[in-house]
Amino acid sequence: MCGIVGYIGNQDAKEILLKGLEKLEYRGYDSAGIAVRDNSQVHVFKAKGRIADLRAVVDASVSANTGIGHTRWATHGVPSHDNAHPHQSTAGRFTLVHNGVIENYSILKREYLEGTAFVSETDTEVIVQLIEKFANEGMETEEAFRQTLKLLKGSYALALLDEQNDETIFVAKNKSPLLVGTGSDFNVVASDAMAMLQVTDQYVELMDKEMVIVTKNDVTIKTLDGTVVERSPYKAELDASDIEKGTYPHYMLKEIDEQPLVIRKIIQKYQDEQGSLQIDQNILDAVTSSDRVYIIACGTSYHAGLVGKQLLEQMAKIPVEVHVASEFGYNMPLLPEKPLFIFISQSGETADSRAVLVAVKELGHKALTITNVQGSTLSREADYTLLLHAGPEIAVASTKAYTAQIAVLSILAHVAAASKGEAESMNLVKELGIVANAMEVLCDSKEEMDYIAREYLSFTRNAFFIGRGIDYYVGLEGALKLKEISYIQAEGFAGGELKHGTIALIEEGTPVVAIATQENVNLSIRGNVKEVAARGANPCIISMKGLDTDEDRFVIPAVHDLLSPLVSVVPLQLIAYYAALHRDCDVDKPRNLAKSVTVE
Ligand code: F6R
Repeated sequence: MCGIVGYIGNQDAKEILLKGLEKLEYRGYDSAGIAVRDNSQVHVFKAKGRIADLRAVVDASVSANTGIGHTRWATHGVPSHDNAHPHQSTAGRFTLVHNGVIENYSILKREYLEGTAFVSETDTEVIVQLIEKFANEGMETEEAFRQTLKLLKGSYALALLDEQNDETIFVAKNKSPLLVGTGSDFNVVASDAMAMLQVTDQYVELMDKEMVIVTKNDVTIKTLDGTVVERSPYKAELDASDIEKGTYPHYMLKEIDEQPLVIRKIIQKYQDEQGSLQIDQNILDAVTSSDRVYIIACGTSYHAGLVGKQLLEQMAKIPVEVHVASEFGYNMPLLPEKPLFIFISQSGETADSRAVLVAVKELGHKALTITNVQGSTLSREADYTLLLHAGPEIAVASTKAYTAQIAVLSILAHVAAASKGEAESMNLVKELGIVANAMEVLCDSKEEMDYIAREYLSFTRNAFFIGRGIDYYVGLEGALKLKEISYIQAEGFAGGELKHGTIALIEEGTPVVAIATQENVNLSIRGNVKEVAARGANPCIISMKGLDTDEDRFVIPAVHDLLSPLVSVVPLQLIAYYAALHRDCDVDKPRNLAKSVTVE
């Protein structure tokens, strides 16, 4: 969701910025722009649509070594050329890109910018106009920038050019992610280290309410009261090849295929030298001493959290509640004395989850973040972090992060159970190994999945995914995958709940995908399939070896029943992928969606 890049050095800024924006495409956007400064002036190029559309309007003859760039995911104002960033002040002296939402922008407009002619509908334009106003009143740019930042309420990551100063990019951050990358004779700015991996792997983290003066040779971080902050760069542990598609047609397919490898990597990362699974003692103490665990997450991560509840409750006997982050903040339940909050987030930047983290930290509670991104906001601000080790997930539709989240939660539950003296429910290392092998078998069944997608989903208007217990949670995820990339209206339902209303939607041919991997509900879910089939539905039963019958459409290899979501989700991911392909959808960049949802 919105991406920012900036470059100041000796090379062609245009190309570095455009390449950087291409690397941020996965975050989701609907327009893009760059501003570059040559010897005399700032040139702005913007376009609605893709980076390819922006490339087409960039004047190749402009030679510049400094610039900023932006991908915009519309919040204030429709996607359009005028609303695309960068935005300029009226006199054209200042040029700004912004990620985030300024909550008090209309108040600022009214109180400070009466009479200013605005060209866009964005909240961003208020910021750049305020900077120019303060500069016109005689402030140096740094001071005008600081003064403006002090007035802003909301979230922002900002990069600013001043036409009268060709040696500096002014940067600031509050709540929205932003990094400064360092190099020799150049420095860069990026929402995400991936964007600038082409030029550097050294990054400096920025904290909220900091501003940074970035020149070719220096990075000076200051607080808003002007105090200089010293902070050393860290090395981004990313391999450039991790963020390439290679021979795959889509990132999503690559990431689905990576899942067996990710599970094996997680086992290895969480094993000690003797091969036993281990978790940091402080985290274990926090989990086992809490009287209730609250899992907070959004979307796919929320679905992983539902499975995590089963794992923690059944293995470690710890009571767990799972909440959608955007609701929890407004609807906080009565909390016990020692709650532990677990935030699950692939990106570690999701604003809804972060809002809850801030609220529960203020209440003095402990928080653990399970994330794929080391150093992300949710990781930095929680007391503890467990990493997913899944490698960058680029496709908007989350796949390998979901299974990695469940695998890490299973390890946490397993080690917590052992530390509480609970009887061991399984040899988890062995069982996760079986899961990885089963995933491989499924990844090799692509032709069959392509066929199932064509048979059931490619031409339908809607679809249902049903299951009971843990299979219900997988159904929710299967439905989300299908709707987000194929735009088929899909709903996940508890098998027994359909008849309480939703069964009215079943018509002749409505596809109903039923997941049947749990012995204790095998007969009842099959009963629910019969109910919908009797009303004309086209059922597609996906069962697990050992529980299968002749009516099943696809049988997954047998794995431990508590770990079955790791395996049963793979056919659902693949079916969604092929359904989207058959419907000519943009699999990796579905409409309206952003990978990293950094606004509430
Ligand atoms: C769906 C998907 C989203 C994310 C959600 C939370 O495929 O990717 O539903 O799971 O936006 O994002 P994170 O996990 O980054 O907090």
